[in-house]
Amino acid sequence: MARKVTVTEVGPRDGFQIERDFIPTATKIALINQLVDAGLPIIEFSSFVSPRAVPQLADAAEVLAGIDRSRGTKLAALVPNAKGAERAAAAGVDEIRVFVSASETHNQKNVNRSIEESLNGFEDVMRIANDAGIPVEGAIATAFGCPFEGEVPVEQVGYIARRFRDLGMTGVGLGDTTGMATPPLVAERCRHLKEHVPELPIALHFHNTRGIGLVNVMAGLAEGIDIYEASFAGLGGCPFAAGATGNICTEDLVYMLHEMGIETGIDLDKLCAAARQAEDVIGRSLPGQVMKAGPRLRLHDPEEVATAAG
Ligand code: COA
Ligand code: ZN
Repeated sequence: MARKVTVTEVGPRDGFQIERDFIPTATKIALINQLVDAGLPIIEFSSFVSPRAVPQLADAAEVLAGIDRSRGTKLAALVPNAKGAERAAAAGVDEIRVFVSASETHNQKNVNRSIEESLNGFEDVMRIANDAGIPVEGAIATAFGCPFEGEVPVEQVGYIARRFRDLGMTGVGLGDTTGMATPPLVAERCRHLKEHVPELPIALHFHNTRGIGLVNVMAGLAEGIDIYEASFAGLGGCPFAAGATGNICTEDLVYMLHEMGIETGIDLDKLCAAARQAEDVIGRSLPGQVMKAGPRLRLHDPEEVATAAG
């Protein structure tokens, strides 16, 4: 099992994208800078998608311009097509992440084209990114099942990963868009990719829709996977997938990893403060649990609670 894990923060993208009320750009920047200060090594800060599809993220370039880059935090953005790659390159992102679904129906819903059209379009993205010297990773949505089509064959996930490799991408992410992953599926998919596409490091992106997100991380750790994506405060969800809910929560993940003796380089207290700030900004209670309960050795004054006397 890995002694050190890379935790990628995706809340400012996966989390903010489902929020209906526009979060002011300055507020987004302040929250992201709290995450930078907490030591998150990679932050998916926004998407360069159609502003009509996702109005919340229309300010991606302005957000990037306000982020503190002095700590060398890698700032990554989601990109669906050549136009997005041009905008991302012009804004100066550190990393581009393209995405395609493993199921046709979700890809149609999400990006209005077939899987093959998405993959072919990534050739232009690669050309633009290569010219700008920006690495590209590929994300596979609905990699553990699709809310419209059901089971997704592991071979389909392997096929897309091979296409990513052949296009020259530097990593592959398996997205569990609506929380359909289970420990056996995690083991099966990771083993398949390690066998058929050993060149690409694997990142796992779970949603906690069915309450077993961290259990799936344990399954990933058992397979030797050392990159996990999560959202602070447990924000998250895809607006174009039925029944999507929050990602696994970054603080809860970091808490678990640290208690297992696995290093992340992240300051859990500062991360919890950022998560509580997100709750204030979003204006409702969010799923994260460690930000509410505190570390396991947070002691309480016995005077705080009544004594059960008969
Ligand atoms: N950034 C900004 N504008 C974009 C764009 C991008 N990356 N891609 C396309 N557009 C604009 C085009 O310029 C065009 O504008 P116009 O009508 O003013 O000329 C318009 O959007 C339509 O372009 P088209 O290529 O026909 O796209 P589409 O309508 O088929 O939509 C996507 C395709 C991919 C752009 C859109 O579905 C999308 O952005 N999806 C992202 C969904 C998402 O983020 N999901 C969550 C992540 S899992
Ligand atoms: Zn997601």
